[in-house]
Amino acid sequence: MGEKKLEGAGLRGQVAGNTALSTVGKTGKGLTYRGYAIEELAEKATFEEVAYMLLYGKLPTQSEYDEYSSKLKSYRSLPTELKEVLERIPQDAHPMDVMRTGCSMLGNLDPEGDFSNQSETADRILASMASIVTYWYRYSHEGIKVETATDHPTIGGQFLSLITGKEPSEEHSRVLDVSLILYAEHGFNASTFTARTCASTLSDMHSCITGAIGTLRGPLHGGANEAAMEMIEQYNTREEAKSGLLELLANKEKIMGFGHAVYTNEDPRNAIIKKWSKKLSEIDGDATLYEVSDEIERVMDEEKGMFANTDFFMASAYHYLGIPTQIFTPLFVIGRTSGWAANIMEQRADNRIIRPSEEYIGPDNSVWVDIADR
Ligand code: COA
Repeated sequence: MGEKKLEGAGLRGQVAGNTALSTVGKTGKGLTYRGYAIEELAEKATFEEVAYMLLYGKLPTQSEYDEYSSKLKSYRSLPTELKEVLERIPQDAHPMDVMRTGCSMLGNLDPEGDFSNQSETADRILASMASIVTYWYRYSHEGIKVETATDHPTIGGQFLSLITGKEPSEEHSRVLDVSLILYAEHGFNASTFTARTCASTLSDMHSCITGAIGTLRGPLHGGANEAAMEMIEQYNTREEAKSGLLELLANKEKIMGFGHAVYTNEDPRNAIIKKWSKKLSEIDGDATLYEVSDEIERVMDEEKGMFANTDFFMASAYHYLGIPTQIFTPLFVIGRTSGWAANIMEQRADNRIIRPSEEYIGPDNSVWVDIADR
C-alpha cells in the first residue's frame, strides 16, 4: 500500500480561524499584538499592561492599570491545598510538569463554572503561575516555604526575587518583564492551538491551559530555550562553538533555538532579546555565553541560512539573570498564559468545535481471528 505524503502536513500554512490578537509573519505587518508593534511594546510596556491589553481588548488607563496590578498582586498568594500538593512533588520532577499539575489543581479548587467570569479566571491563573513554580522550586530544593505574595510592582520582579532569593536590580526585573512580553502571544502556535481546540469543546479554562502547558513542554516548541542552553554551555570560546556546531550539523542534528514554522527570514523577537543578552553579559562581566551564542548564530546563518528564533538568546539572557535552566520553559508559560487565555476567550466568542478530517491510510477488510487462533 503506497503511503501518500500529505500536502500541508502539520497543518502548515492552513488558516484554522480568525484572530484579532496577533500578526505573526504577515508581510508588512511584522509581529503585532492587537496592532501594537512588538518592538514598541518591548520598549515601553510592562508585561501586566500587555496582558491587560490582550485580555481586555485595550490599553489600560493609569487607574485601570493600578487597579489591575493590585488585583494580580492579590492573587499571588496560593491556596493552602495547592501548596500542599506542590510540596509533595519531588525535587527531580520537571518544572513544566509542576506547572501542569499546579494549573490543574487550581481548577479543582476554584473551578471556572459558567463562563460569565472568564477574564477573572484568566487573571487568577496568570497571577498564580510564577508563584506555583517558585514555591515548588524553593521548597523542593531548599525546604523553604516562600511567601509568594510579594509587593513587587511586576511579576518579573516577584519571580526573580522568589527564584533567586535575592532582590533583583531594576534592570534585571525589566529584562524578565521584556521576555514575558515577547512570549505573551504568537498566533496559532501548537500550544495556543491546543488551548483553542480544548476551548472549542466548551471545556473550562484550566483544562485548556493545562493542555497548552503539556504542548509547550516539548523541545520543538517552548522547551527549545532549555535545550539551547544545554548546547551553548558546552562551549567556552567562539572556536569551540564553531567546531562543535559544525560537528552537530554534520551529524544532521537539529539545532535548538533555530528555525521557525512561520517566519522565513527572521524572528522579530530575536533582535530584542539579543540586545538584552549582550547588555546583561556586559553587566555580568563574563561575556562567554553571549559570544558563544553570537558565534552559533553566525555559523548557522553561514552554513544553513537559518536564523535564531526568540528562544535562542532567551537562553543566555535567562542564565545571566541567575535563573536555573530547568525554569526557562516555565517562564514561557508565565508569559504565554496571557495569550492562551485571550485566545480561549476569542474562541468562545465565535465558536465552532475544532474537528479536522483525516486521510485514512490503514488496512481495508481486516479479517477477525478468534483470540485462541491468533
Ligand atoms: N536545525 C537544523 N536544521 C533544521 C532546524 C534546526 N533547528 N530546523 C529545521 N531544520 C531543517 C530540517 O531538518 C529540514 O531539513 P530537510 O528538509 O532537509 O529535512 C528543514 O530545515 C525544514 O525543517 P522542518 O522541520 O520541516 O521545519 P518545521 O516548520 O516543520 O519546524 C521548527 C519548525 C521550529 C519545529 C524547527 O525549525 C525546529 O525543530 N527548530 C528547533 C526547535 C526550536 O527552536 N523550536 C522553537 C520554535 S520558536
